[in-house]
Amino acid sequence: MSTRLFSFMGGDTGLWRVTKMEAGIGEPLPAARRLEIISGSALPSDPHPAWALRGITSNERYVDREERNQIVAKLLDLGRPEATCAALIPIRKNAAWWALTQDERLSIFKDQSRHTQIGLQYFPELARRLHHCRDLSENEPFDFLTWFEYAPADEAVFNKLLAALRATTEWKYVEREVDIRFVREET
Ligand code: HEM
Repeated sequence: MSTRLFSFMGGDTGLWRVTKMEAGIGEPLPAARRLEIISGSALPSDPHPAWALRGITSNERYVDREERNQIVAKLLDLGRPEATCAALIPIRKNAAWWALTQDERLSIFKDQSRHTQIGLQYFPELARRLHHCRDLSENEPFDFLTWFEYAPADEAVFNKLLAALRATTEWKYVEREVDIRFVREET
């Protein structure tokens, strides 16, 4: 059975070796050497990781039909052999964002910030998975866990895409963001 729940465990085990951890905005996360991603209720190999972040995939809130068609046509699978680099970017938005109505958030995300269009413009084909945390419990440290996989040659374009998104109005509402990069490496 496929699961919507994923846990990202930072510690000493896992397929992904940490190459960089940067607190972009707000408090950093404790240092970790590797990342293990656990699906559903599977048990992690390290019961005491430095940190564990949980999120759940969900329905879309901000895409119209045309964008959905574009996204589905372009979205690449996770786990492709050539995509040996990855980024985990946990994000928390502030109380002002969550106090907005859905149509106000949509206006910021879509009309003012052009999030999806910027994404597709810089990186038309990117393997990504968005996880939501707020619906799991009151106390999750982040609202979203964003996960991306790409080939080493695409790292520079990925960085440009991130810089473009960080310059948008949407990012004025981000109060915590950690940028963690990995390479896939069997232990
Ligand atoms: C090809 C690149 C990208 C595309 C096409 C893309 C597209 C999207 C789309 C369509 C959504 C809305 C999902 C919904 O309707 O609920 C979304 C949400 C989101 N994306 Fe991206 N994205 C890209 C890159 C990124 C990057 C690099 C980040 C960096 C951290 C990011 C962070 C987020 C976050 C945090 C949300 C949730 C926003 C919210 O619900 O408030 N995205 N993205």
